[in-house]
Amino acid sequence: MSSKREHWGWGLIGPGRFAREFAEELANHERARTVAVASRNRERAERFAEDFGFERACDDYADLVNDPEVDIVYVVVPHVFHHEIASLALDAGKAVVCEKPLTPTAENTRTLCRSAREKKVFLMEAMKTGFLPAIKQARQWIADGAIGEPRLLKADFCFFGPEDPADRLMNPDLAGGCILDVGIYPIYLSFHLLGPVASLAATGHLAETGVEDTAAIALRHENGACASLTASFRAPENMDAEILGSRGRIRLPKFHAAVSAELILEDGSHETFHDDSGGMVAAEIGAVMDALDAGEIECPGHLHEDSIKLAELMDEALRQVRGDSARRV
Ligand SMILES: NC(=O)c1ccc[n+]([C@@H]2O[C@H](COP(=O)([O-])OP(=O)(O)OC[C@H]3O[C@@H](n4cnc5c(N)ncnc54)[C@H](OP(=O)(O)O)[C@@H]3O)[C@@H](O)[C@H]2O)c1
Repeated sequence: MSSKREHWGWGLIGPGRFAREFAEELANHERARTVAVASRNRERAERFAEDFGFERACDDYADLVNDPEVDIVYVVVPHVFHHEIASLALDAGKAVVCEKPLTPTAENTRTLCRSAREKKVFLMEAMKTGFLPAIKQARQWIADGAIGEPRLLKADFCFFGPEDPADRLMNPDLAGGCILDVGIYPIYLSFHLLGPVASLAATGHLAETGVEDTAAIALRHENGACASLTASFRAPENMDAEILGSRGRIRLPKFHAAVSAELILEDGSHETFHDDSGGMVAAEIGAVMDALDAGEIECPGHLHEDSIKLAELMDEALRQVRGDSARRV
């Protein structure tokens, strides 16, 4: 039995860097009520609450998950804490939307998904990319055979990152490294657009902290298409993707937050899709509330199975790049 709720109450844990971008769209979403924000630091929570219209600020994560007016807990802390904080919210019976990667290992990702299923509580990894209209358009073009048989996908996620070894991107104690932080996007795109992966080969460069700051990953999909993917914290910004097929190509500039998709065919024809909604996470936020309205414990746009497959691919890439002893928790 499903019924559409007018509003869902949201609580945000971890008012840091990305939380600000998410909260801006959350606060503007007509069906989201921004109920509470929690930080280990009360002042930071209060400032964030004021900036984005949250009704309450807490200095204890447990207070937020036990707030009776919070229906959905959005976890936006460094990856290494995802499992613990998402579990805290699931134990309180709250729907959880947890930032990517759901956890830093396939084993913990499986455990967390199992726990949500056993408790019959909603859990989703916040993988915004697949919810974007431009990515949906690209997927539709591929399904319709617009580019013919898909043969090759190229996708990069590179930028000049922080040099500070304590920063969460470089810090092994915070599950740093470019594969888990940004390599996840090209891997996801390939998997989302071209289907199951048959084999993966990865190499990379390790920083002094022991985490990889550059990685190159090659995939062969079961349909025969291959992918060439890169991630780096040491290269000029490049987040573009291209899918090449027997009849043409699709270009996705800044694919992880794509606002456009271009179809360029070998016969000279050309089509451009442009998403004017202006949102990067609004579609994802809406999809979560739609799934809850339908009584689901998974979001059809990004299932537990998708998070687990993604985590398994990253496990294998990390094993090849860092060696078997790679520590991620
Ligand atoms: N979907 C996307 O597009 C996107 C983009 C960027 C990042 N992300 C994801 O969002 C998550 C957070 O990234 P971020 O860059 O926003 O992180 P961040 O700013 O470094 O940290 C976020 C918050 O985590 C909390 N935290 C709790 N325990 C911590 C500890 N021991 N050390 C440091 N921080 C701690 C802090 O909140 P309090 O101290 O206030 O409690 C901090 O403000 C990551 O998992 C990342 O993958 C997603």
